[in-house]
Amino acid sequence: MTALGAPAWPPAPISTERLVLREPEAGDREAFIALFASPEVGAFIGGSRAREELERSMPVVPGRRAGLFVTALDGAMIGMVTLDRRGAERPGHVRPDAGEAELGYMFLPGAWGRGYAGEACAAALGWFARALPGEPVVLCTQTANARSLRVAAKLGFTEVERFQEYGAEQWFGVWSSGPPAV
Ligand SMILES: CC(C)(COP(=O)(O)OP(=O)(O)OC[C@H]1O[C@@H](n2cnc3c(N)ncnc32)[C@H](O)[C@@H]1OP(=O)(O)O)[C@@H](O)C(=O)NCCC(=O)NCCS
Repeated sequence: MTALGAPAWPPAPISTERLVLREPEAGDREAFIALFASPEVGAFIGGSRAREELERSMPVVPGRRAGLFVTALDGAMIGMVTLDRRGAERPGHVRPDAGEAELGYMFLPGAWGRGYAGEACAAALGWFARALPGEPVVLCTQTANARSLRVAAKLGFTEVERFQEYGAEQWFGVWSSGPPAV
């Protein structure tokens, strides 16, 4: 997976009813460590990492790259939403030239069950649709990841196919903001 590249990055912070989507800051470091060290968060996305190793290796300002939005509630990071380019070597594509924008999301377990992920992802998709009207966004998640599937459905992703990857069945879906404005 490669960084989004276009559109211009970073955008101004995006406010939703309850949240702000923004670039990472130094104060987010502990939340990034908690996110990647959490076995619950890692359950369907390849597992968690050792906290000690994360403490050693996490940059002062983690995650500062095109396509990565920190999601903050009252200023504090509760999760992140990503838009990256899906690598051509991966299974699952909707464009012949591959490189689709792909949505990802990870939230701290303490923030689950309140609709924050759906709210943040809808805002990120809205930003993407304004920047690149009509360009599809894809999403891939394990079929066993029930919470993630509910988020995908709520956002309006529709199934394209299922396949095996990383030793598990994957659900691959697509979302589109509609035809480009003329
Ligand atoms: C996937 C993940 C982000 C989903 O989190 P989530 O909290 O279930 O999703 P949302 O924030 O959209 O919240 C939806 C839930 O909030 C509830 N909710 C409560 N208040 C709400 C509100 N005001 N608005 C909307 N939903 C609300 C909904 O009923 C729903 O609960 P339910 O699923 O038990 O019915 C989270 O489980 C996670 O971070 N997992 C680990 C990383 C991962 O697997 N990512 C997927 C990789 S693609």
